[in-house]
Order: sequence, then structure tokens, then C-alpha cells
Amino acid sequence: MPDPKPLVLILGGTADAIRIATDLVATAKYRVLTSLAGKVKSPKPIPGETRVGGFGGAAGLESFLLQNNVAAVVDATHPFAAQMSANARAACDATRIPRLQIRRPEWPRHPADRWVEVDTVAEAATRLPALGRRAFLTVGLSELDPFRDRADLWCLVRVVDTPAAPLLNGPHLTIAARGPFHEADERILLETHKIDVLVTKHAGGDATYGKLKAARDLGIPVLMIRRPPAEPGDTGLPEEAVAWVEKQAGLCPDPRRG
Ligand SMILES: NC(=O)c1ccc[n+]([C@@H]2O[C@H](COP(=O)([O-])OP(=O)(O)OC[C@H]3O[C@@H](n4cnc5c(N)ncnc54)[C@H](OP(=O)(O)O)[C@@H]3O)[C@@H](O)[C@H]2O)c1
Repeated sequence: MPDPKPLVLILGGTADAIRIATDLVATAKYRVLTSLAGKVKSPKPIPGETRVGGFGGAAGLESFLLQNNVAAVVDATHPFAAQMSANARAACDATRIPRLQIRRPEWPRHPADRWVEVDTVAEAATRLPALGRRAFLTVGLSELDPFRDRADLWCLVRVVDTPAAPLLNGPHLTIAARGPFHEADERILLETHKIDVLVTKHAGGDATYGKLKAARDLGIPVLMIRRPPAEPGDTGLPEEAVAWVEKQAGLCPDPRRG
């Protein structure tokens, strides 16, 4: 027999999404389905149901929402997954399905931080080697193009999965690791590889903040890629997701049923 509980779709790929799935499953009031893009080989376990792979743009997501009778969408994708968030907005607007976009706070900027803010990874690449020649790149596997043929830099590249082939044509070292990353370990990494510039996205969150504290302590400049803006509509923190879901029309438990 189909589960009569309302279906909440979480757009995932982040630790925030796992936390929200855990919280929603714990209420026992909803069917919880987390969607992953399928870019990571072995994702961490997620409570509830999961599905993997793209929907086929905003139109594909719209069909998915209607076919599966989705009651609410929580967009807990990474702050830089702008395409997925735009598709979620378009599909939810078209179907009038409520949508919450999770926005974790940006990292606080300390007076001793040497951040240089830029809009894109490509722009960050143009600031090198003026700002540094030994770069620690934590921008994600799919954003390495601007560094691909740089013979004038040495790059330490951190990705989630061990790649099958070299990631860059210039001199580099790849490390495969999954956060959280602690400040002391990040400091050792920066010192061991004589890193003189860090390139990162302004993701926010505790799990990857350690490298920024280590860079600050070592006086290393940071090329900080600004976040794309949030989609218009409801936004919230991961810990606010359950309360938001419960507030949506049709999802509030009927108080008369006790
Ligand atoms: N961008 C980052 O820096 C970053 C960092 C850490 C984790 N992630 C996670 O990695 C995934 C991909 O990120 P991205 O920046 O490549 O996304 P994106 O550029 O915004 O999305 C590209 C396409 O990937 C598919 N997709 C993305 N997230 C999906 C999801 N949760 N479920 C199903 N399909 C999804 C969609 O394909 P269709 O159009 O076919 O539906 C989307 O149009 C996301 O889940 C994100 O949370 C991204």
C-alpha cells in the first residue's frame, strides 16, 4: 500500500541536506526523499529514501513533482549549485508547490584575514601568479578549467573522489578527501606544501572553515569566490527546515486528530 504521508523532496548533495532528512524522518510525519546529482561515487548514508541523477531541467523537475505528488521542496543544495536552485524555483512556481532554499550563513571575515573577493573561479585564476604561485584549490572538480594549462603555478587540488586521470596539465598534486576538515590538519597541509595562496568558494559552514583559520594564522592570502544570489522566495537555516515544512498548507497535522 502506498505511504499516505505527504512527500517532502530534499534537493541534496550537502551535509545540510543530510541533517534536514534526519530531522524530517525523526518526525515520522512525512515521506522524505533526498535527490542527489550523482557526482560523488559513494555518498554518505541519508535517512529516508534517495534518488540519483538530474531531472532534465526545470521542465523535468516539474513533471517529477507532479507525478510523485510532492507536497514541499527543500532546496538544500550547495550555495554554488545555482542551476539546480533556479530549476527548483521555476518548477515550484509553475506547480505552486512550496519551496524553501537553505542558505547557511557566510563565513565571518576576521580583521587579520587577507581575502581578495572575486566573482568567478576564472577571475581568481587571473589573479595568479601575482598573489601566489603555490595554490591550494578547493573549488570542486567541475571548476578546474581555468587552472588546467597553467605551467606557471603549482597547485594542490582537493576533490572528493580519487580521479582516474590527472586533473591538470601543469604541475600539481591531487588529494581526495571528504570533510569535515580541522584547522590543525589544514595548517599542516598548507605548511607541508608551502602553499602561498588559497582559492575557495564562499560556501560557509563549519566543515570547511578550518582552512580559512589556518590561512589567517599563516598570513596566506585567500581568493574568495563570492556566492551567487539566493533565488527569490523562502530561505532558512537547516535547523529551521522542519518548522517551515510543518507550516506549509496541507502539511500541518490536523490538531483535532491529536
Ligand atoms: N557547486 C559546488 O561547489 C558544490 C559543492 C558541494 C556539493 N555540491 C553538490 O553537488 C551537486 C551538483 O552541484 P552543481 O554545482 O554541479 O549543480 P548545478 O550546476 O546547480 O546543477 C547542474 C545540474 O545537475 C543536476 N543536479 C544538481 N543537483 C542535483 C540534485 N540535488 N538532484 C538531482 N539533480 C541535481 C541538475 O540536472 P537536471 O537539469 O538534469 O535536473 C542540474 O541542472 C549538487 O547536489 C550540490 O548540492 C556542489
